[in-house]
Amino acid sequence: MKTDTDNSRIIIAPSILSADFTRLKDALDIIKDAGGDWVHIDVMDGHFVPNLTIGPPVVESIRKQTDLFLDVHLMVEKPELLLDAFIDAGADMITVHAEACAHLDRTLNVIRKAGVRAGVALNPATPLSVLDYVLDIVDMILIMTVNPGFGGQKYIPGMTGKIKALRERINKCNPGVLLQIDGGISTDNIAEVTAAGANVIIAGSAFFNAPDKARFVSELRENSAFSGKI
Ligand code: DX5
Ligand code: ZN
Repeated sequence: MKTDTDNSRIIIAPSILSADFTRLKDALDIIKDAGGDWVHIDVMDGHFVPNLTIGPPVVESIRKQTDLFLDVHLMVEKPELLLDAFIDAGADMITVHAEACAHLDRTLNVIRKAGVRAGVALNPATPLSVLDYVLDIVDMILIMTVNPGFGGQKYIPGMTGKIKALRERINKCNPGVLLQIDGGISTDNIAEVTAAGANVIIAGSAFFNAPDKARFVSELRENSAFSGKI
């Protein structure tokens, strides 16, 4: 299973939110054949975000069909209630939203104790200061570059400065932490976001709409300007 946590190159994580849900196995094969590194799975509960998507049984089925790294993004209220289910389903990374966790420290510890990597996601308007006391107990920070809930939205330009500020803090405090970005990423802005310091790239609509997906993934890698720790 490829994890690439040494930051040696950017990690590309296509989001199956933009796949045909009746043909998920095909989507997994398409991601693998195109050279994607991870599968990004968007879990939405209809409360934290205004949309409903995938639950643990679907992740369990996906786990049986691929050896790709499963990156589970929980856009749900009270994610602590669902951790066991997603851990048992076979998630490799579980990312919770800081805004949805009353006990973020405890939640991250539960995920890591289960041998699963732990991430924290921040909505566009959430300040980086919520990370002050958790940067030493996370594997990844996810900066939402759109308001979560739907694929196909436009990148919020103000997020580039936020990515830069977070990259500085990560380099200073815990350089092994991955910096993931999610929302509106394409070959048009990959240079900008990777130069700012992002090294895990989610692409949903841009990946699944691309006529040649292997070429799309190569273009993301070729146009990336990540210069962080190798
Ligand atoms: C949005 C999701 C994203 C979404 C990205 O709430 O968290 O992962 O799939 O889709 P695009 O790349 O189309 O913005
Ligand atoms: Zn996501």
